[in-house]
Amino acid sequence: MWALEVQDLAVRFGEFQALEGVSLRVPEGAFVAIVGPNGAGKSTLLKAVLGLVPFRGEVRVFGRPLGEADPMWFGYVPQIKTFDRTFPALAVELVATGLMRRWPFRLSREAREKALAALERVGALALADRPLGRLSGGQLQRVYLARALIRRPRLLLLDEPATGVDRVGEVDLYRYLEAYQEEAGATVLMITHDWEAAHHASHVLVMNRKVVGFGPPERALTEECLRQAFGHLGHAHELYVGGSRA
Ligand SMILES: Nc1ncnc2c1ncn2[C@@H]1O[C@H](COP(=O)(O)OP(=O)(O)OP(=O)(O)O)[C@@H](O)[C@H]1O
Ligand SMILES: [Mg+2]
Repeated sequence: MWALEVQDLAVRFGEFQALEGVSLRVPEGAFVAIVGPNGAGKSTLLKAVLGLVPFRGEVRVFGRPLGEADPMWFGYVPQIKTFDRTFPALAVELVATGLMRRWPFRLSREAREKALAALERVGALALADRPLGRLSGGQLQRVYLARALIRRPRLLLLDEPATGVDRVGEVDLYRYLEAYQEEAGATVLMITHDWEAAHHASHVLVMNRKVVGFGPPERALTEECLRQAFGHLGHAHELYVGGSRA
């Protein structure tokens, strides 16, 4: 079964064509790393899959047209956390919004327990009763991941989840994701600028407005694909060639 089928997807912002002719099929249980330069349309692709931006073409999720997909199938960690940090709320409350899609005026005992379990899953239980305004960037990322996991999504869409997370936290993050995926059989799409991390994925999508390469890392993360997506590779090429660090 395909977790995601995208056929000839195009997204336009006014005169600007952000995505064009994007087609891909992601098998259930895959871990897809999405790489491409800034402005390549990576975030836009995830938003289209979530139905957050208008698009042309077809998107099917677990065999269903997007309009018939259950919103609870999706877990999403957005790239930019447009969150008012002065809002007087606790981490555990933000996590619980993943469950009910609105701000809980009073957290039920059940919702709180689920939120605590989600925080524990990402090693952030200690943050539960901290005000959001007092979390570091990396801590906030974890809280958002817990918020995405609380509904036990079948399809997890992560937009640069490791940004602002320290190196140890990043290794932890991949461990939590792997554990969740193993336990829930979920499919993960993760945007990253870390080609080394991408190398550990089951599939890599190299894109720049269009699909440049899609397949197992050794087939998609080639010098040719990276050059095509990024233009010239400059120093990055010296640091990283086809999966091995020079
Ligand atoms: N709501 C919008 N209105 C107009 N243009 C937009 C909008 N959202 C994105 N764009 C444009 O579409 C292009 C793709 O943006 P997108 O955020 O998808 O890129 P990205 O690959 O995620 O980049 P980054 O690595 O910087 O996050 C950019 O040129 C951006 O300016
Ligand atoms: Mg982006």
